Amino acid sequence: MSQPRLLVTGASGLLGSNLALHAAAQKHTVVGVTNQHPLAQAPFETVQADLLAPGAVARVLDETQPDWVVHCAALADIDACERQPELAHKLNTELPGQLARETARRNLRFAHISTDAVFDGTKAPYKETDAPNPLSVYAKTKRMAELAVKAAHPQWLIVRPNLFGWSPNGDHSLAEFFYNKLTAGETVNGFTDRLFTPLHVGFLSEIILELLAKDAHGIFNAGSSDSLSKYDFGVMIARKFNYDEQLVRPTHTESAAPRAADLRLNVSRLSAALGRRLPTVAEGVARLHAELSNGHRQTVSALAG
Ligand SMILES: NC(=O)c1ccc[n+]([C@@H]2O[C@H](COP(=O)([O-])OP(=O)(O)OC[C@H]3O[C@@H](n4cnc5c(N)ncnc54)[C@H](OP(=O)(O)O)[C@@H]3O)[C@@H](O)[C@H]2O)c1
Repeated sequence: MSQPRLLVTGASGLLGSNLALHAAAQKHTVVGVTNQHPLAQAPFETVQADLLAPGAVARVLDETQPDWVVHCAALADIDACERQPELAHKLNTELPGQLARETARRNLRFAHISTDAVFDGTKAPYKETDAPNPLSVYAKTKRMAELAVKAAHPQWLIVRPNLFGWSPNGDHSLAEFFYNKLTAGETVNGFTDRLFTPLHVGFLSEIILELLAKDAHGIFNAGSSDSLSKYDFGVMIARKFNYDEQLVRPTHTESAAPRAADLRLNVSRLSAALGRRLPTVAEGVARLHAELSNGHRQTVSALAG
């Protein structure tokens, strides 16, 4: 039986590009939607569309005829959301709601990507049943999207991740931030007061495809099986990539946008749904390191042209 046909929005971003590459490698027919950053040398079909343009969502769905849609496009820059709250609302709340309605109308599977930032950081580690209390414009628009998706699609699937990996433009993830600074021999601040549960984007991509294949329904936290501070994450990267870990300076957060301090996730629901334990952060960092030499990082970078 042939694999379902997959439409990935945000295919020029960190998650969308990796998800599209992994799905294509698993023999899915993939169509990736890009907006301002067209892809070069993509081993999958791409379409260019500003999904906020009137009629764009329906047109893309009708032209590409997917079985599954994974919505990764967003305004994911927290500070940009504070500066442009109207755009953040359109992109992060209205668009997912519209995609959920249009996919439900066509009887397509729809997976929406949310964020760990829907929580306020006072009660970690968070289960899916804990009450969200988003602090920033970004987090509020993402939380409203969850509600819009639930209301619009009977078989809704929402994944709340934190993620890291190689992105086409090379600076879309915290891992790349540390790696780029360390490679340049520069000191880099690592926040000791920010805890999180990041998952390597390759593992996350495989998990999203697995959840869709299992017909999973509901909301799933998606992180590694363990958590750490952003400082410890930086040190882990320095050690794995053989850089001087003293370059990672322990500091406290300075942030214009309100950010929750402790976003550790409880991932037991996801683990139970998949029937296996989730990888550790160290296993994710090892995979990130292996991708330097196994060609994956080059493939992702080449997408940016
Ligand atoms: N990165 C993280 O650490 C993190 C953590 C938790 C949750 N998330 C969530 O994970 C998802 C993926 O994040 P990411 O980091 O992969 O994002 P990203 O790298 O910033 O990519 C955003 C994508 O959205 C696309 N896009 C923006 N405006 C668009 C429009 N009007 N029409 C069509 N496409 C548009 C961009 O296309 P162009 O570049 O081509 O314009 C780009 O492909 C998001 O839902 C985010 O909220 C991310």
